[in-house]
Amino acid sequence: MANVTFSSPKMKKDVTFYATAGDCDTLLATAKANKIPVDFECENGECGSCAVEVVVLSNREPMGMHLTEKEKTVLKLSGKISKQQIEDAELKDVPPPWRLACQYIVRDEDILVKF
Ligand code: FES
Repeated sequence: MANVTFSSPKMKKDVTFYATAGDCDTLLATAKANKIPVDFECENGECGSCAVEVVVLSNREPMGMHLTEKEKTVLKLSGKISKQQIEDAELKDVPPPWRLACQYIVRDEDILVKF
């Protein structure tokens, strides 16, 4: 169970949704289902158009975030995350600031999504 808040200059105000644990939806699917105007094209982790900044709002340690190989490649090539941030995510479970909304699975923690 988590609150997912979307924030963007494209929207009049921030919008928060309650995501239930076990939905296993991607962030992009959650955005589309709620008519949040996150950009996307391929929906397959290849174009990078759905890159969003994710800030964990929960008071506890951020959950380890598995980065898909596609995310690592696309986000690194676009300059959104560094090699060090990829290593920190893999070795220390430190979530990187940028994710691909079409690859990111909503977890049981409150997040702010900026795009
Ligand atoms: S929509 Fe293309 S990478 Fe997410």
